[in-house]
Amino acid sequence: MLKTHGCGELRAEHDGEQVTLAGWVHRRRDHGGLLFLDLRDSTGLVQVVVHPEHAPAAMAIASEVRNEFVLRIDGLVSKRLPGTENVELATGAIEVQAATVEVLNSSETPPFPINQDSDPGELTRLRYRYLDLRRERMARNLRLRHRVVKLIRDFMDARAFIEVETPVLGLATPEGARDYLVPSRVHPGSFYALPQSPQQWKQLLMVAGVDRYFQIARCYRDEDLRADRQPEFTQLDVEMAFVEEEDVLSLTEELYQHLAAELAPERPLPSPFPRMTYAEAMERFGSDKPDLRYGVEIADLTNHVRESEFRVFADAIAAGGRVRAIVVPGGGATPRREVDRLTEMAKEAGARGLVWVQFAGAGALDTLTDDDVKSPVGRFFTPAQLGSLGAACGAVRGDMLLIAADRDAITSRVLDVLRRHIAEAQALADPNALAFAFITQFPMFEWDETAERWSAVHHLFTSPFSDDYDLIESDPGSVRSRAYDIICNGQEIASGSIRIHRREILLRVLKTLGMSLDEAKARFGHMLEAFTFGAPPHGGIAPGIDRTVAIFAGERDIREVIAFPKTKSAADAMTGAPAPVSSAQLTEVHIALDAAAREALEQAASREA
Ligand code: AMO
Ligand code: AMP
Repeated sequence: MLKTHGCGELRAEHDGEQVTLAGWVHRRRDHGGLLFLDLRDSTGLVQVVVHPEHAPAAMAIASEVRNEFVLRIDGLVSKRLPGTENVELATGAIEVQAATVEVLNSSETPPFPINQDSDPGELTRLRYRYLDLRRERMARNLRLRHRVVKLIRDFMDARAFIEVETPVLGLATPEGARDYLVPSRVHPGSFYALPQSPQQWKQLLMVAGVDRYFQIARCYRDEDLRADRQPEFTQLDVEMAFVEEEDVLSLTEELYQHLAAELAPERPLPSPFPRMTYAEAMERFGSDKPDLRYGVEIADLTNHVRESEFRVFADAIAAGGRVRAIVVPGGGATPRREVDRLTEMAKEAGARGLVWVQFAGAGALDTLTDDDVKSPVGRFFTPAQLGSLGAACGAVRGDMLLIAADRDAITSRVLDVLRRHIAEAQALADPNALAFAFITQFPMFEWDETAERWSAVHHLFTSPFSDDYDLIESDPGSVRSRAYDIICNGQEIASGSIRIHRREILLRVLKTLGMSLDEAKARFGHMLEAFTFGAPPHGGIAPGIDRTVAIFAGERDIREVIAFPKTKSAADAMTGAPAPVSSAQLTEVHIALDAAAREALEQAASREA
């Protein structure tokens, strides 16, 4: 080794030891003749002192170095003088008196300071990711990610799970997100698809008798990117044979309790995790991944306004919809401009409008006069009637009601958007809380308006409740599935289900999804066949590793816990991928570019020129 110790390892007990260190110049300070260098490596920082009289040669070199130069330093560890210790620094009790300084490499001035947590912008950070990763926050996140994965592997191993690797080059599937395709050279015109998840492989491993499988698995999905979505991401993929919901849920809950105890003992998880059916979550929060750190629940006002003359409400109810509302705590005096913004947000989420009711003053909603209530529907309701609507939602004077009337699918979406906006604006969520919960009993099918057919809410291998088998053909919309999610702070963290393990049930589900027998055999023949050879009952789950690490790191964007993430347009800002390839390479894999692709390439070339 070029060094005897890590910079961050030195303590008072090393006082008097000769050490050799190697690392980067974190900061340099001139102090009237004395030169102070903070030297940094992966273990931390230490202060090095260079004396012009004791070490003139070292001084000559040290006075030329700049931030991020790579140095090797021989020196003596000495206790700092009383009063000059730095309690903020793990090595703050000592410093290293340099005897020799050697420059192992120089450095250009970095495009952003490494010794600060400044934000030079997404693109610059990703373009120079190797410098961004040198910074403390990112280095900490990488180490945390390693620990999470290590804890998971040890946890699963201790419970007799085995990790099995599954192929990355596989068969494209018609369901789910868009596939990343890989052209085949030896099979002209044929393509592999990168796995969106190892779903089919893990089920085949159950047929193979593996019993308890897991994998830290890379998944690839060509979808629109957001703060919690990357085109390639990692799952803890789990599958078990001979299990029911309870077995999978208790295993995963135990895993998260273990992670939290090891990584964030000061942020305890709810125990046991609360459970809510999909129906209850949609009713109370309008979302299947509600943030449970705050209330602001949805109330149903349909029965209270059924007799009203206000056409908007009456028409919505007559069309099979409902009138639902949330309370904005303290919203009674929200300025008109902000109220109009809420209406705009509601419309963007699909609402035809938004009724608001503001209550002035403080205290209970009784003896209201015209002056106490402000609302665009004041013509249709007396103050007392509006007050009783407010009371039905748990509002008091000083609050505001937001009311949406429409089909449940719309009112849920609208009120969920408003609920999250209000919580954000009023900082209702405790940033330290970890509100984990299970959502269960998802519907099996949902009607896809654009494709005009049923699609699987989780995925098509998810088992319906056996009580609902009879409805698979007659009433797909009311079939409940044995799927479950783990949510935390308004985000889906994991998803899984008990699977179909019988061929005839899978065939019935595929038929409801609009697949002919021939198509089913072409796409899923291997699964249908495997199920004829004694497939055991099985089920599993897949927690997202990126989202899990982000939660424990306190990061909002999963890119902060991925070493080399993609930009919002799925590109690598550093290497330039994806990029054109030579025509020889294209010919080899039997690919010809269409006019749109050729034009895009020409435009890119002329932009560069
Ligand atoms: P699902 O598609 O719900 O289920 O994915 C499971 C979990 O993976 C994470 N995740 C993502 N993380 C980052 N970027 C993405 N683009 C992304 N997409 C998904 C989420 C999500 O909860 N095979 C099934 C699981 C099963 O049934 O066992 C599956 O993949 O945390
Ligand atoms: P209108 O009579 O269409 O002018 O609407 C009167 C009020 O009802 C306005 O504040 C609209 O924003 C609101 N509104 C219209 N449609 C809906 C709806 N579907 N749900 C809730 N409020 C609505």
